[in-house]
Amino acid sequence: MSPQRPTTLAAIERAVWQELDECVRAAGHGWRVATLATLDGGRADARSVVLREVEPGARRVIFYTDARSPKVRHLEAHPEGTLLLWSRELGWQLRLAVTLEALTSGPAVASRWARLAATPAAQDYFAPLAPGSVIERPGTERGSQGHFALVVASIVALDWTEIHPEGHRRAAFDASGARWLQP
Ligand SMILES: Cc1cc2nc3c(=O)[nH]c(=O)nc-3n(C[C@H](O)[C@H](O)[C@H](O)COP(=O)(O)O)c2cc1C
Repeated sequence: MSPQRPTTLAAIERAVWQELDECVRAAGHGWRVATLATLDGGRADARSVVLREVEPGARRVIFYTDARSPKVRHLEAHPEGTLLLWSRELGWQLRLAVTLEALTSGPAVASRWARLAATPAAQDYFAPLAPGSVIERPGTERGSQGHFALVVASIVALDWTEIHPEGHRRAAFDASGARWLQP
C-alpha cells in the first residue's frame, strides 16, 4: 500500500498502475483476483479471473482461460467488458472498461503455454470437456489436448473509487484525461 494517500489525479493514476503491476506478483493482493463482466446476448455475466500480467505502457492486462469456456464466446461476440477489482487493504475499487481479445495461437500463446505446461496449473486446460459441461461426477480425467487461451484486456477507461473514513474519493481516467467524480 502507498505510505500516504496520493492527493493529485496524476499521483493517483501513477499509484493505480503501480498497484496493478504489483498485484500480478503478490498472491495476497486484493486486485489479483478480478471480476470479469461480459455480455451473454442480452444478459450480463460475471466470474472471477486471476490477473497474470500487466503492461502499463500498452495499458493492457492479461489473464488465462480455457479456450472452450463460455466467456470466450461472449467476448468474441461482444469484446467490450468490465474488469472489477477491489482491495480491502487499499480501500480501492477499480472498474476497468476493457476491450477483450482471446488468443489461442501464435508466439504470445506458445511462450506462456510453454511456461505453464511444466506446472500443475496446466491440468486446468486438459479437461476432456468444456467448462460448464454437465458431468456424472467431479473427477480428474485428463484429455489429450490442452485448451489454453490468453485473454488480452485493453484498458479503455479507469474508474477509481477510494473508500476512506475521512471521505470517499472517485476519479476517472480515459482518453479525455483525468477528472474527479462524485463518489
Ligand atoms: C479465485 C478464482 C480464480 C479463478 N481464476 C480463473 C482464471 O484465471 N481463468 C478462468 O478462466 N477461470 C477462472 N476461475 C473460474 C471462473 O470464475 C469461472 O467459474 C470459469 O472460468 C467458467 O466461466 P465462464 O462459464 O464464464 O466461461 C476462477 C475462479 C475462482 C473462484
